[in-house]
Amino acid sequence: MIELTMELAERLARLGTAAAELVEDGQIIGLGTGSTADAMIDALGERVAAGLTISAVVTSSQTEARAKRNGIPVVSLDDVADIAIYLDGADEIDPALTLIKGRGGALLYEKLVSERSARFVVIAASEKLVTTLGLRLPLPIEVIPYGWPHTLERVASLGLEPVLRRSDAGEPVVTDAGNYLLDCARREITDPAALGAAIKGLTGVVEHGLFIGLATDGLIVDETGEINRLTPR
Ligand code: A5P
Repeated sequence: MIELTMELAERLARLGTAAAELVEDGQIIGLGTGSTADAMIDALGERVAAGLTISAVVTSSQTEARAKRNGIPVVSLDDVADIAIYLDGADEIDPALTLIKGRGGALLYEKLVSERSARFVVIAASEKLVTTLGLRLPLPIEVIPYGWPHTLERVASLGLEPVLRRSDAGEPVVTDAGNYLLDCARREITDPAALGAAIKGLTGVVEHGLFIGLATDGLIVDETGEINRLTPR
């Protein structure tokens, strides 16, 4: 039988519905950021409209607006002790479920929320699966604006090739936390833990986009729209 490929938007809508099904009544959940997370938030909104009672911690102003449009009650991370389940996309996913995140600029809040979550289900189209991290998209690093050119030099001294992320108008992109983003040129990352520790040790760095040991499992939609569960290897 010939299996036809499906448009990405339709695949993400299916994935969003499957991800939203994981949420249970009464839970405090975490909502990620990005196009994949958006599809899940829309599907969750339908469940809330049908009577599901939840509270959500959000990872960006963009996600907050979408959650509210969908009738999902939003609570602050400051006011919750634990989060039952966190649902979010990724830019790259390796077999151990180590992730690169941050293309959407929300990596700091995403890491804060994921570290507080009992379960983190990474949701993604199968194109995001990689054998080795680092080759598909740049690794983002969030830095404080003050002295950023010097922080960039420190990052470059690790052998990375960072550039400041700018808007189409040429202005530095500012995160919800008021920081800047450096995007490192694509290169194979053979030891994510060592690289992450080295980056985190640099003055001026707030956080990096390597998510190590945080995703507990995954839901992946393939090119035909079929959804498969992913566990770390
Ligand atoms: C947001 O900062 C990112 O971490 C996103 O979760 C990631 O870039 C995936 O985004 P898409 O679902 O839009 O591909």
